[in-house]
Amino acid sequence: MTRESSPQALAGRFPSDFLFGVATASYQIEGAVEADGRKPSIWDAFSHMPGRVRGGDTGDVACDHYNRLEADLDLMAELGAKAYRFSLAWPRLLPDGAGAINEPGFAFYDRLLDGLKSRNIKAFATLYHWDLPLALMGRGGWTDRDTAEAFADYAGLVTQRLGDRLDTITTFNEPWCSVYLGHLMGVHAPGERSMEAAMAALHVTNLAHGLGVQAIRAERAEMPVGIVLNAMSIMAASDSDADNKAAERANDFHNGVFFGPLFEGAYPQSVLDGCPDLALHIRDGDLETIRQPLDFWGLNYYTPMRVRDDAASEFPHVAIAPAVRPEKTDIGWEVEPQGLSHIVSQLYGRYTLPEFYITENGAADNTGVENGAVSDTMRLDYISTHLSVVADLVADNYPLQGYFAWSLVDNFEWAEGYSMRFGLVHVNYETQLRTIKQSGYWYRDLIAAHCGK
Ligand code: NOJ
Repeated sequence: MTRESSPQALAGRFPSDFLFGVATASYQIEGAVEADGRKPSIWDAFSHMPGRVRGGDTGDVACDHYNRLEADLDLMAELGAKAYRFSLAWPRLLPDGAGAINEPGFAFYDRLLDGLKSRNIKAFATLYHWDLPLALMGRGGWTDRDTAEAFADYAGLVTQRLGDRLDTITTFNEPWCSVYLGHLMGVHAPGERSMEAAMAALHVTNLAHGLGVQAIRAERAEMPVGIVLNAMSIMAASDSDADNKAAERANDFHNGVFFGPLFEGAYPQSVLDGCPDLALHIRDGDLETIRQPLDFWGLNYYTPMRVRDDAASEFPHVAIAPAVRPEKTDIGWEVEPQGLSHIVSQLYGRYTLPEFYITENGAADNTGVENGAVSDTMRLDYISTHLSVVADLVADNYPLQGYFAWSLVDNFEWAEGYSMRFGLVHVNYETQLRTIKQSGYWYRDLIAAHCGK
């Protein structure tokens, strides 16, 4: 272990109120998809379509977290997590997306929140981590404006029923993924491949965020509210003018379409010009609705995006360029910790942003159990080198309040199924046995050292 990765040395670089937590998401861990009145989400439907998810995997059972809640809460406590970032399954609470409330669904999250309270772990809830009730797909899902209204009703209901035990509420997790992977690239639910659909989903999602924030505040004015964005750390493949311009366009298309409306009340002009469908969806007042003051935002960071100019492709006319650094995680993503400081300084240089958290960071390291232990040294190196950058950002006075490791447990990695393991805790999917990995023990030691300092 290098000095840099010693948990004690790293812990000393964080202020005492810095929050260390772990993160998960409902569809990725809960399983129990038919239990107690839950109805299908678009991910249930998508994962059951042949050829959509690697190995034909589905979230039907996942980590069976729904039935193993107490044991998983104990695991969080064993790691010493100070905060837990999780998402609520909309189809458990409002199985048809709107209308009838499913009480057993609320009972599950009541137990989760009470369990966190009794263990002194802060609750960071996300309202939407991609499991849209399938019933709302009938009307077009995220391409239909009514879905934004349905989301706002759901946001208000959750705040009313659970808000007394939530420390923060996040409207959306990585809308880039639900919009672009879901509607433009077809690799996530609902599996569309259309710029027209993507532009509709983009605007309806942004609108839903704004309406959702209003609904949350109408119920609890003091609730800290934010959004989690996987802002892309975009780097030009060369110093050429063409590649630099390509990087700017990519920035507008991947980041500006969220940061612009959320924090400045406007979409980037290049996207309005390059994707004329977008303007068709914007109505008077929408941009004011979307630009709600936020208490915080979350950044999910894993890897940079390297781009080069590619005039032949559709807007933003860029091609993905090869990785520069040799290290890759098991999912093939380049390891570049400096990409994190690059995106943070770029965003704070450009927008007026509130305080933030690193709401996800971690690595796919598929090391298995051997003699009862998991020696996931690659993940440990990944997390420690990224945390070192996080400490630098804090030292540079960015308003960075905390860090959440992705993920507490190995789980359903969307289109990759169970083939990619991101957990600090290994899950044997046959027996549901949990085994804390070396990286998990390292993270526990970091948090313990941080508490003791
Ligand atoms: C981002 C997503 O929020 C999460 O669901 C996913 O598992 C991780 N990245 C890893 O890909």
